[in-house]
Amino acid sequence: MGGHYINLSIIAILVSTLYGPISHELTVLGVFRTASSAVNSHGQDRRPIHAVEDTLHCEDLHYYPPADQIFTACEDSALSRFKWFPPLANFDGEADTTGSIHVIDPRTLISSRLAFENFSGPFVTHGIDLIPDPEREDAVYIFAVNHLGNPEHETGNVPRARSQIELFHHVLQSGNARHVRSIRHPLITTPNDIYAASPRSFYVTNDHHSREGYKRMAEDLLPVAKWSNVIHVQLDRLPGISAEGGVDAVVAADGLRNPNGLGHGQSEDEVLLTSAIGGILYRARPNPLNRTVTVLDHFAFDSTIDNPSYYRDPYRTSDDDASGYILGGLLRAVDVAQTHNQPHAKEGVMVWHLRRSPTATTRDADRDSDSGWEKRLIFEDDGTHIRTASTALLLPIQSEESSKSTSEKKARLFVTGFVSEAVIAVEVSL
Ligand SMILES: *[C@@H]1O[C@H](CO)[C@@H](O)[C@H](O)[C@H]1NC(C)=O
Ligand SMILES: *[C@@H]1O[C@H](CO)[C@@H](O)[C@H](O)[C@H]1NC(C)=O
Repeated sequence: MGGHYINLSIIAILVSTLYGPISHELTVLGVFRTASSAVNSHGQDRRPIHAVEDTLHCEDLHYYPPADQIFTACEDSALSRFKWFPPLANFDGEADTTGSIHVIDPRTLISSRLAFENFSGPFVTHGIDLIPDPEREDAVYIFAVNHLGNPEHETGNVPRARSQIELFHHVLQSGNARHVRSIRHPLITTPNDIYAASPRSFYVTNDHHSREGYKRMAEDLLPVAKWSNVIHVQLDRLPGISAEGGVDAVVAADGLRNPNGLGHGQSEDEVLLTSAIGGILYRARPNPLNRTVTVLDHFAFDSTIDNPSYYRDPYRTSDDDASGYILGGLLRAVDVAQTHNQPHAKEGVMVWHLRRSPTATTRDADRDSDSGWEKRLIFEDDGTHIRTASTALLLPIQSEESSKSTSEKKARLFVTGFVSEAVIAVEVSL
C-alpha cells in the first residue's frame, strides 16, 4: 500500500461533477464508512486475537508450505516509517534505518529474525516474494523491496528515493539469509510488491508514476489516472555484481492505476495483481516469451485492497469449497492523508474472502460480483487490534483442532499492515 491520500470532502464533489457517478470510488475510499468497534466474523462468536511479538510494520506475508513458515520483512524501529517511507510520501528521515526478514511459526506464533550474511542495510522494507532454489530442495531465494535514499539528491529535480530490490538466499531452518545481490534499474521507480517467476526473473509493481507532489495526488484521486505499470526484470548473473549489473528490465503491463500487490494464484501461471486505490483484483497470465502480463478478468471490492493471496481449502468437497482469494485493505483509506506520518493514529481494516459461490446459498453473495462468485467480509477492525491491513493470509486449521460443536468450517487468518504494530492471528469462520 502507499498513497498520498487527500481529504475528499470537497474535491469529491468537484470530481463528481466532472466525472459523473463516482459513488463506487467514494465507497472504496470509505468516505461514508464509520469505524465501528472491533468485530470479527460478523460480530458473532468473537474469538481471541493474538498479536505476534516482534513483527513491526511488516507489509507483506508469504506462507511457504515446505517449511510450514510465514515469511515477512519488517522494520526494526518503531518511528522510522513515519519519517521515511517513500510509498507514503514520508520523506523526512535519513533513510538509514534497518529492517529484518522474519519467519513466523504459524502454530506457536513465534517470530524469529533471520541473521543477514554479507548485508548490513540500510533496509527499508516493503513487499517480498520467495521462490524455491531449483538447485537445493531445502533452500529459497527471497526478493525484497528496499526504499533507500538517493545519494545524488540535492535539488528538486533528482528524486529523494532510490529504491531497489535485495535478493537473499535462505536455507530453510538455518536462521540465516545470505545477501546475493542488489537490483537497481531506471524503470524500477516506486516498487511496491514482487512476483518471482524464477531466481533470475521477476515482476515488480511501480505503485505510482510520480513519487510526490500534485501529479501523485491526481493519481490517487482520479480514476482516469492510469499512469503506472508493472516491470519485468531478467537477471543475467546472480552473485558478485553491482546493483545495476546484468539487469534487463522491460514494461510488462502499462496503463494501470495504482498497481500495488502481486501474488501467486490458484495455478502455477496465475499472477494476481491489485489496484489498491481502485479496489480491484486482476487475475493475469505471464507471457514468458514477450515478457508481458495479460489481464484475464477482474473483481471490484468495496474498500482499498492490497497484497493478494490464495487459500487452497484442504477440506474442500464438491459442494463446500472455501478455496479463494484473500485481500486486506483499509476501512477508510480517505483518512491516510492525515494519518500517514502520525505514529499514534489508528486506521481500521477490512479483510475479504472471494470464492466461487457454493451452489446451496447465495445469501452473502455480493450482488455486484460476477455471477458465480461470492465476496464476504471475514474480518473487520476499527484499528484497535491492528492498524492498517496490507496482507491477509488464511491457513487451514486441522479438523480436530477446530470446534466440534458446530459444523462450520474454520481457518486461521493472519493480517498485517504497512504501519501495524504486530501481525495478528485470529480464527475465522468460512
Ligand atoms: C559479499 O558481497 C560482495 C559485494 O557484493 C561480494 O563481492 C562477495 O562475493 C560477497 N561475499 C559472499 C561470501 O557472498
Ligand atoms: C505477448 O504474448 C501473448 C501470448 O502469446 C499475447 O497474447 C500478447 O498479445 C503479446 N503481447 C505483446 C505486447 O506482444
